[in-house]
Amino acid sequence: MRQDLIDQARDVMRKNDRGTYTVPTHGLYPFQWNWDSALSAIGFARFDEDRAWTEIETLFAHQWDDGMVPHIIFHKPDDGYFPGPEVWQTNRPVPTTGITQPAVAGFAARRIYDRAVDPVLAADRARALLPRIHAWHEWFYRYRDPHGTGLVAIIHPWESGRDNSVDWDDAFARVPTEGVAPFQRRDTAHADPAHRPTDEQYKRYIWLVEHFRNLGWDNTKLHDASPFRMVDPGFNAILIRSCADLAVLADNLGESEIARQSRAFAERGAKAFESLWNGPLGQYVCLDRAASKLVDSPSIGGLLAAFCAIPRDRAAAIAARIGTLAESARFMVPSHDPEAAEYDGKRYWRGPVWLIVNYMIADGLMAAGQEAIAQRIETDSIRLIEESGFAEYYDPITAEPCGGSNFTWTAAMVIEILSAERT
Ligand code: GLC
Repeated sequence: MRQDLIDQARDVMRKNDRGTYTVPTHGLYPFQWNWDSALSAIGFARFDEDRAWTEIETLFAHQWDDGMVPHIIFHKPDDGYFPGPEVWQTNRPVPTTGITQPAVAGFAARRIYDRAVDPVLAADRARALLPRIHAWHEWFYRYRDPHGTGLVAIIHPWESGRDNSVDWDDAFARVPTEGVAPFQRRDTAHADPAHRPTDEQYKRYIWLVEHFRNLGWDNTKLHDASPFRMVDPGFNAILIRSCADLAVLADNLGESEIARQSRAFAERGAKAFESLWNGPLGQYVCLDRAASKLVDSPSIGGLLAAFCAIPRDRAAAIAARIGTLAESARFMVPSHDPEAAEYDGKRYWRGPVWLIVNYMIADGLMAAGQEAIAQRIETDSIRLIEESGFAEYYDPITAEPCGGSNFTWTAAMVIEILSAERT
């Protein structure tokens, strides 16, 4: 049965493979997405290391001169997706969006390198990627933490990877809807509209894109000019973890200066991270940087914090918090607390379970000695696949498959979780 699942997962990945990159799924997302690729590479590495490195290399081949790695690379025209290159207008040889996504590539590169069956190939490929990944991390601290707090802000909800999280609601209400050029959504033609963001949210997403476009995508201006500036604990945890992992990788490859700088980023981030702790909720929360206030919202960004090295008592509190969530949902980890008023079990990041986030939370909790809950998260992940196939996300109570189907990174996580069980 298990080998059967691995075979099915490989098949999903193969079908979404476009040679040098994968699409998240046929139809709904026909281009290369940033963190989808980095996480999918970890799954590829279990059966084709060369292909795994290629996935990350293709992503970094489209890095901007200032260091940013874009959230989507529009390799080939496809009118099945909105907003396409004609909306972004970033003026790149191969069109890309002008915003970024969670910096998980540093973590992925170290994981693939550490496990490499072919260490010579791994050292070669990792050595070439190292300065590029480091330049991306520098970009984050330069342009998204211009006042040197140690924590970076996202300037568009799409950057978080958790597009319509409840976390953004109040801050997002400050983003106007007036004046946005008329558009037609394409996502709702591929997936059930009840599983997707609302039209009003789409207008605000596009307002921000038009605003940044009018500023010429100049990253020296965008942070301060955005009405939406959010410090997300999940996003920062991924960046801190990637900096820490890049430091280890750089040490292994004899690149001591990159190692030193990466370690300094991670240490500064970890120190500042504590300011995001919310005692009564028992988890980390977002900081609305534009309004200078913490966001009182029990969502998964604050649990994903466990992906970086947090104090052990905090990891224990997060494990306990997930234990509490398990009293109201059958499958861990819901992206928003099922007991909260805003919870919506089928609508994207407002309740459903996502395997990639499960994988990262379980990885962090395992390292922090919280094996039981980490194990539970992985078991639930595989049960979801057994019940409902390789969906984009799942209802945490009914296991209903939601969003798109035949999803690349879901498949990659299945390969990864099941292969780790064997080794
Ligand atoms: C959605 C998700 C985002 C993901 C993308 C492609 O926008 O919210 O996290 O990267 O789809 O799968």
